Amino acid sequence: MKSLALIIMLSLFYSAPHTHPAVKKKPFGKGPDGKKVFLYTLKNKNGVEVQISNYGGTIVSIKVPDRKGHMDDVVLGYDTLSGYLEKNNPYFGATIGRYGNRIAKGTFRLDGKEYHVPINNGPNALHGGIRGFDKRVWSGKDHADGDGAHLAIHYVSKDGKEGYPGTLTADVEFTLTNENQLKIEYSASTDKDTVLNLTNHSYFNLAGQGNGDILKHKLKLYASRFTPVDATLIPTGELRKVSGTPFDFTQATAVGEHIGQEDEQLKSGGGYDHNFVLDSGGGKLTLAAEVIEPTSGRKMEVFTTEPGVQFYSGNFLDGSNHGKNGKVYQHRYGLCLETQHFPDSPNHPDFPSTVLKPGEHFHSTTVYRFTTDSQ
Ligand code: GLA
Repeated sequence: MKSLALIIMLSLFYSAPHTHPAVKKKPFGKGPDGKKVFLYTLKNKNGVEVQISNYGGTIVSIKVPDRKGHMDDVVLGYDTLSGYLEKNNPYFGATIGRYGNRIAKGTFRLDGKEYHVPINNGPNALHGGIRGFDKRVWSGKDHADGDGAHLAIHYVSKDGKEGYPGTLTADVEFTLTNENQLKIEYSASTDKDTVLNLTNHSYFNLAGQGNGDILKHKLKLYASRFTPVDATLIPTGELRKVSGTPFDFTQATAVGEHIGQEDEQLKSGGGYDHNFVLDSGGGKLTLAAEVIEPTSGRKMEVFTTEPGVQFYSGNFLDGSNHGKNGKVYQHRYGLCLETQHFPDSPNHPDFPSTVLKPGEHFHSTTVYRFTTDSQ
């Protein structure tokens, strides 16, 4: 009798819908330096699920419902760690640092001294160097509570790593809330003056990863200006009004609507690959972007404390990345909204500063909130 009751209780427990946030951790292989890599699965009470690896602080999957409740994975990536280790991995889902986006000719001056960081993108430095934060094994700590499921990752970048001055201690906390928000909180401190620009490089496709291009996604950006670039994607220094240009996303507009237009800026980027100047000015957690995919009805809102967002329309994707579930990522199969300080800020004294000094505590928050058009 007792065992029957136990069986009934157990089966009820296992068949019950997921009502509590939880985190599960499983091995995901070994990093290039032999360090153990894990895959953390964060789940909230609605069954929304986010997978993150401590290799590169990488968001591996985000499963959210469409307007009918059907779950799909809405970010590009790989099934196994080996994909992330491949040379041609275009930063899928990664945490980017120490300096996200470009520094012209890999050169900047700080406190009267000239620094040279590795050049890895045409004539410029991109995304923190040859082995930036996206290629490091971070330490990880997870927990779940009433608010959601959490993963905190930690990495110390030694003085001089990838050419940057100062030992930088970086912490990133990912929280999947019960309101279907993925919150990313970055903190950092340094022991010498340095420059810092942290972001996340997720490629979104709200129709489901691998299910076509993102040209029908409707995008709204809370930005009335952007930073035009030269042919190597370095900002010229101008803050240009978007009105009357293909960069006007102040009203929700399909990404593909103007992308083919004859335009010198679109030509430089091979599409959109530009930093937008958020009207908020940064500092306060504010709505920066909204994306709607009309077929699934999925909607994503991006809130940030950062002053800019790099909208990248996946122009370099060309079918050479074979991703999750056998999907092949063709041209523009994903879009990135990289919340950040402006590219090449160390060489533009007029841009919001990216300098971090000893004794200062860097803190930045970005939230991706998932809903549908039926909500
Ligand atoms: C950023 C850059 C792009 C490209 C991608 C990675 O978004 O701005 O130019 O380098 O990263 O492929």
